[in-house]
Amino acid sequence: MKFNQIPTPAYICEESKLNNNLKILNEISIKSGAKVLCALKGFAFSPAMLNCANALAGATCSGLNEAKYARSFGFKSVHTYSPAFKDSQIDEIIALSDHIIFNSLNQLRAFGKKAKNAGVSIGLRLNPQSSASPCDAYNPCARYSRLGVSAKMLQNATNDDLDLLDGLHFHALCEQNSKALELVLNAFKANFSALIERKNIKWLNFGGGHHISKQGYDKELLISLINEYSSDFSVYLEPGEAVGWQCGYLLASVLDVVDNEIPTYIIDASAQCHMPDTALMPYRPALRGEILNKNEQKNAHKCRFGGATCLAGDVVGLEAGEPDFYIKEPLKIGDKVIFEDQIHYSVVKNTTFNGVCLPALVWCKDNGEYELKRIFDYEDFARRN
Ligand SMILES: Cc1ncc(COP(=O)(O)O)c(C=O)c1O
Repeated sequence: MKFNQIPTPAYICEESKLNNNLKILNEISIKSGAKVLCALKGFAFSPAMLNCANALAGATCSGLNEAKYARSFGFKSVHTYSPAFKDSQIDEIIALSDHIIFNSLNQLRAFGKKAKNAGVSIGLRLNPQSSASPCDAYNPCARYSRLGVSAKMLQNATNDDLDLLDGLHFHALCEQNSKALELVLNAFKANFSALIERKNIKWLNFGGGHHISKQGYDKELLISLINEYSSDFSVYLEPGEAVGWQCGYLLASVLDVVDNEIPTYIIDASAQCHMPDTALMPYRPALRGEILNKNEQKNAHKCRFGGATCLAGDVVGLEAGEPDFYIKEPLKIGDKVIFEDQIHYSVVKNTTFNGVCLPALVWCKDNGEYELKRIFDYEDFARRN
């Protein structure tokens, strides 16, 4: 398929860029001995999953659906964690998983023995109460957090509880460099040393949020932090963002322009539905071709982009406080626009609010060819409502 034949809206994932991220993650694995898992909650894009399954040590899954999905693509190992598992799903989850990580002592007591007897390796999520996450919504260690067992909560654990464990897990980072991991590891060690030193603890999972594939990430520090543990434990990392980072974009068409003091282009993609992190969080997607230089902006065309939904706030960049974009020239109806880096945490979170269609999934192969892999239509909308 030629680029101009791609229907809009569409998420276009680029194999060459994905493979580059996978190569970086693989190098970390080779140099540190850590096993790197793909966090499907952040990056699940079916056409790309075989690449991930082949390159990485496994997948980390948030429950039954993601565990099934991981198995369907042949991920070598399936690690399932949820804040709470359901009675009605636990047997299937046990059958699908190599590791199950429980979020609380209650859940460990409810399902741990059963999972262990079935040969699953058992972990407990701990809350190291240290995080440098950019905002509370992304801070699993914030006060009152429901995610993981704090040192105080752990005082209620019995020896029987702790004997069940094979490994320990924490997740405390969000888009962070390895220096932030160092701080979390210090807190982890300080809070849980007695537990870490128990003979039955064979693995440690350092969660996600490691921005490994971003330029400037300190890989050497990460490797040395892992090396402190890798002679005594198997170490796991479970990044989502670092797998899908900068490996694709959202393509949309201009449907109309409304000029109310500033031209706002109505596009067939929606910030709210198709780039949810940009609508709910202070993220602003980059527009391909936009002018960022303040001096050059003075002579540029200033405009905004909004979705074809009834939500007043469905304006790209509004939540980040930067809804104005500067481009060379005004756009015409039918023109295409590209929002960069819209593959991770977008496809997995999109919605059909207002009955809008979900963007198609397009795979741009290593050789530059485009393949239309999925289109979504009325049936998809009707089944969800
Ligand atoms: C438990 C757990 N592991 C891994 C991840 C992946 O994090 P990231 O995509 O930031 O690397 C998340 C994200 O929320 C998570 O909650």
